[in-house]
Amino acid sequence: MDKKRRNFLRLFSLGVLGFLTYGAFKNLTSLSSPPPKKVIVLFEEIEKAKDILFKENFIVMKTGSNFKVFSRKCPHLGCLLNYSPEEALIVCPCHQSKFNLSGKFLSGPAKKDLTTYNYRLNSQGLEVEVF
Ligand code: FES
Repeated sequence: MDKKRRNFLRLFSLGVLGFLTYGAFKNLTSLSSPPPKKVIVLFEEIEKAKDILFKENFIVMKTGSNFKVFSRKCPHLGCLLNYSPEEALIVCPCHQSKFNLSGKFLSGPAKKDLTTYNYRLNSQGLEVEVF
């Protein structure tokens, strides 16, 4: 193999290696920091849901004139939580962890309270932004 060809193959290999390394690094950084997600919850949606609304990965509750926003993902393994009207509790369908309507852990393997989120009020409803 002549010297020019070897140099070309060496440079080409380095280029391919650099491209693959960049792609792997870019995927790792995008996994560790997902982009912010914004969800709009309209006042009429909350009223229609009778003060507890499950929207995307959020639980929105109206308590008097205030609101609380929780993650709908169970702190145990991430199953989507449901509302049990008979018990007036938030319940995980996977391993039966239970939370009260303030997001406090009551029983089951989750062992943690629900994650709460801040929100901004606008004229139509709530804007919930998750980072
Ligand atoms: S995922 Fe909810 S209790 Fe296990």
